[in-house]
Amino acid sequence: MGVLQGAVLVALCSWVAGKGCKHLSKTPEFGDIYHVKGVISLPYAEIEEPFEAWYNKTGNSSRIQYYDGQVITYQLESVEPYGTNYKITPETTETEMNVVKCFQLNGTKESPVTLQTVFPDTNGFKVSPPAGAWAGGGRSAGRQA
Ligand SMILES: *[C@@H]1O[C@H](CO)[C@@H](O)[C@H](O)[C@H]1NC(C)=O
Ligand SMILES: *[C@@H]1O[C@H](CO)[C@@H](O)[C@H](O)[C@H]1NC(C)=O
Ligand SMILES: *[C@@H]1O[C@H](CO)[C@@H](O)[C@H](O)[C@H]1NC(C)=O
Repeated sequence: MGVLQGAVLVALCSWVAGKGCKHLSKTPEFGDIYHVKGVISLPYAEIEEPFEAWYNKTGNSSRIQYYDGQVITYQLESVEPYGTNYKITPETTETEMNVVKCFQLNGTKESPVTLQTVFPDTNGFKVSPPAGAWAGGGRSAGRQA
């Protein structure tokens, strides 16, 4: 699981456990196409990274951008033969400063490019009873055995 998915899972759990929220009656589904904005927060590393993501499973493509579009990444699964990644980002070298460049990285047979989801796959998870509904007070969604 990537840092992004880990961060989102934590956010989801605190959202589920949050006082103002109704308890979910079923595991959340995010669908095959979505757009989401958020902030990756890693307090111990003092990182606050705003991101925005578009996920299109039907189109076999995803895009994630950071810092309000300063860095844009594409994950295109359907480019033959093994998919391709693009990264558009400012680059500073000895001779130039903050020049926007586009980089391409093709997938390989051993490591094809795959879409990058933001939300974790909730298949196999079930919603646990509301906190305090049973002794021990489990809070977050637990994985089924
Ligand atoms: C997406 O990938 C699936 C599985 O490889 C393929 O069947 C489908 O045609 C692809 N869709 C597009 C829009 O490329
Ligand atoms: C998702 O991909 C499909 C197939 O390429 C395309 O027709 C559709 O417009 C895309 N949806 C969005 C929201 O971009
Ligand atoms: C990626 O693959 C495409 C199509 O095969 C090719 O034109 C392109 O030069 C490749 N890019 C890199 C960075 O290897």
